[in-house]
Amino acid sequence: MNALEPQAPQAEWIANWFWLTVWLGVASFVLFTGFVLFGTWRAHRRNQRGEVNELNPKTGQNLVVFGGVVVPLVMIAVLLVASTINDRAIARTGRTEDVLTIEVRGHKFWWELKYRDALNPHREFRTANEIHIPAGKPVRLLLESSDVIHSFWVPSLNGKVDLIPGRTNDIIIQANEPGIYRGQCAEFCGVQHAKMAMLVIAHPPAQFDTWWETQLIPHGRPGTAIEQKGHDVFMRNGCGTCHTIRGTDARGKVAPDLSHFGGRITIAAATLPNNSGHLGGWISDPQGIKPGNYMPAVPLSGDDLQAVIQFLLGLR
Ligand code: CUA
Repeated sequence: MNALEPQAPQAEWIANWFWLTVWLGVASFVLFTGFVLFGTWRAHRRNQRGEVNELNPKTGQNLVVFGGVVVPLVMIAVLLVASTINDRAIARTGRTEDVLTIEVRGHKFWWELKYRDALNPHREFRTANEIHIPAGKPVRLLLESSDVIHSFWVPSLNGKVDLIPGRTNDIIIQANEPGIYRGQCAEFCGVQHAKMAMLVIAHPPAQFDTWWETQLIPHGRPGTAIEQKGHDVFMRNGCGTCHTIRGTDARGKVAPDLSHFGGRITIAAATLPNNSGHLGGWISDPQGIKPGNYMPAVPLSGDDLQAVIQFLLGLR
């Protein structure tokens, strides 16, 4: 999460702009501090020599005009031109016709994702919190919100854009290299704003296509006996009224889609690593981990909990 280590063309423009403002600021500081120090030193020396130490009014006037008007105007003009060029470059980079489009919907306190396929709606699917993209290619995110204003920000890839209820914004993200880039909700949206993170996972393009194909496979019958038991516990306890698992009776729409959940790196909007320990803790006491989120605690026996964990981690 470092905007000063850009991993995308858009983030490079932003970092360049930042360094331009910093170095202009440093230059003006050095220039004016130099003037003051030099003037003080000269006056001191004149005093020591017993010379008359009066500032020529004309020189004083010139200094004020130069330091107070000319230099600031030049700096502001440079920043204005650079900012315009920068903004246009960021707005245009990666805006091609056939760009991959993902709908991103902000919820308290997680990210719903829908992968679009304009040519074949059967290839569309939903997932949550981990945005897989092909490296080196621009991806367009359509940003919407279900409740309050959130803000999408992956500092190493691009700037931030708000998700506003009732309207659709967009942003282009593009990762130069395969890798994992962390992002964070950047607009205070409630008690768990800080734990509303997301990952952008950039794959080599061929690997990305494989990932997409995998997402389209609906979940079949659970493999092992314990996974079957976990499936039954999941359905019996009403988890499917909020969550969807494609290929099962779980079709809830208010909570993250858990299809292929076992392939995710994190849980609870990139709050914790996805492993059996954290997942068990989350299911048993989500309010202890993220107080104020909408997941209720599900009281399960130890055996049932283990079975649900195995079932969920087996969804690959
Ligand atoms: Cu969502 Cu802050």
